[in-house]
Amino acid sequence: MDKASKIYIAGHKGMVGSAIHRKLLKEGFSNIITRNSADLDLRDQQEVAAFFASEKPDYVFLAAAKVGGIVANNTYRADFLYENLQIQNNVIHNSYLNGVKKLMFLGSSCIYPKLAPQPLKEEYLLTGLLEPTNEPYAIAKIAGIKMCDAYRDQYGCNFISVMPTNLYGYNDNYHPQNSHVLPALIRRFDEAKNQQLPEVVIWGTGSPKREFLFADDLAEACFYLMQNYDEQGLVNIGTGEDLSIKDLALLIKKIVGYEGNISFDTSKPDGTPRKLMDVTKLHSKGWKHKIELEEGIALAYKDYLTKNN
Ligand SMILES: NC(=O)c1ccc[n+]([C@@H]2O[C@H](COP(=O)([O-])OP(=O)(O)OC[C@H]3O[C@@H](n4cnc5c(N)ncnc54)[C@H](OP(=O)(O)O)[C@@H]3O)[C@@H](O)[C@H]2O)c1
Repeated sequence: MDKASKIYIAGHKGMVGSAIHRKLLKEGFSNIITRNSADLDLRDQQEVAAFFASEKPDYVFLAAAKVGGIVANNTYRADFLYENLQIQNNVIHNSYLNGVKKLMFLGSSCIYPKLAPQPLKEEYLLTGLLEPTNEPYAIAKIAGIKMCDAYRDQYGCNFISVMPTNLYGYNDNYHPQNSHVLPALIRRFDEAKNQQLPEVVIWGTGSPKREFLFADDLAEACFYLMQNYDEQGLVNIGTGEDLSIKDLALLIKKIVGYEGNISFDTSKPDGTPRKLMDVTKLHSKGWKHKIELEEGIALAYKDYLTKNN
């Protein structure tokens, strides 16, 4: 990519897309194309075809998707499968038709089998059954990886796939039902602090371990890989470090300044005991994360406060 390259960020208003947008602007890229979903519905084949034919981007970051936590994934199973397939089919196929030089497809760690060994290596893709609650979403993401590879094989397209771990950061989704665990905990501790509640109840035992990456770090990785990685298959993006939900809750409690108690509702399910990315491949390509969890949560909480007060 050079500074004059025409770069389309699909999903530029989302947490990931907005972080990639900030990174490109910081690096001096000025020929960036964006569209709100109200102006360009990426599920619509004809709209997307017309957009690509008229704009002819050189590079594409595909960060538009229907995204949500476990409840949303499990409730809107048809929407998660249909909308994500539509979006990625339209963007990937039209990138091929219009000679896009390079495309980056963003997947997720849920593409790996539910019982895959930990940490999750790229080679574990399609070696076992998926977690049922987010299977439709994962199937769409796996189709996206395979689509990038098939267009590379058949048409020589330089389309790459990256699999970020759990993300958090600016512009995150704090919806009371549809958000991921980290933003959900930020919201709940902040509300408990403001309402002076004696206790915050956390689902499960608190023992499952999870990994989290600040979205601006992800954007750094995407920018780096867009210039230094041209392979088929996939590459994980994470920190390679995890912590228990209990330790995460204690950290968020401290950052938010909540003084009540934490308790665990062990009648609720725990989910997968551990979900950690193997980042050996990413490190071997020359990239490592910079923002540690405590610093990142403090930044995310500040952003949450500016938008919710
Ligand atoms: N968040 C995570 O923890 C996480 C973890 C791993 C991977 N990822 C991946 O990163 C990517 C981006 O996730 P995110 O967290 O940034 O999600 P997000 O904040 O919900 O943003 C999604 C973006 O996609 C756009 N979009 C959705 N449907 C669209 C449509 N039909 N037409 C046009 N635009 C549409 C949204 O636009 P509107 O808001 O205007 O609808 C929004 O800008 C996804 O591929 C996701 O799988 C995320």
